[in-house]
Amino acid sequence: MSDVKTQAQVGTMVGAPPDEACKDCSRREFFARVGMGSLVVAAAGAGLFAYEFFSPNVLFESAPIIRAGKPDQFPANTVTLDAQSGIYLINGAKGFYALGAICTHLGCLTAWKPELDLIACPCHGSRFNRDGVKVAGPAPQPLPWLKVWLAEDGNLMVDRSSILKEPEYVKV
Ligand code: FES
Repeated sequence: MSDVKTQAQVGTMVGAPPDEACKDCSRREFFARVGMGSLVVAAAGAGLFAYEFFSPNVLFESAPIIRAGKPDQFPANTVTLDAQSGIYLINGAKGFYALGAICTHLGCLTAWKPELDLIACPCHGSRFNRDGVKVAGPAPQPLPWLKVWLAEDGNLMVDRSSILKEPEYVKV
């Protein structure tokens, strides 16, 4: 087959719209459709921007009061980490108490190390005893003591927003 095309054939090819869906439409119709498509895309983008702009800029945080569980879930002389809530519930010799589990240095979640009898921070090596007192590392403060009480339904409750100045124990 010859590659030579007539002037009319070349003119038809150059002027032909590349869109297969618009085979029979004129050049004007083709560009009108492209224009409408662009407008739809721009309108969708503007709508998305408006939705983001008018949506309230709220940070959703979980409630500060935690239902830790029944006292018999915590055997005597144990330290239990609730990683989701960021608290330790400790069943010590004087009773139950709770500590915040977030390191006071730069906010890493600490972990209980029973073999060391210490709470250790994996980030920069701070260590705390089971009363929250810092024994090593760069943490500037002890772990905070949190308010604990026994609810009427028999569950131990911890208020993460209530930091105690003096240790308090819940006897069960
Ligand atoms: S965040 Fe815990 S020691 Fe730095």
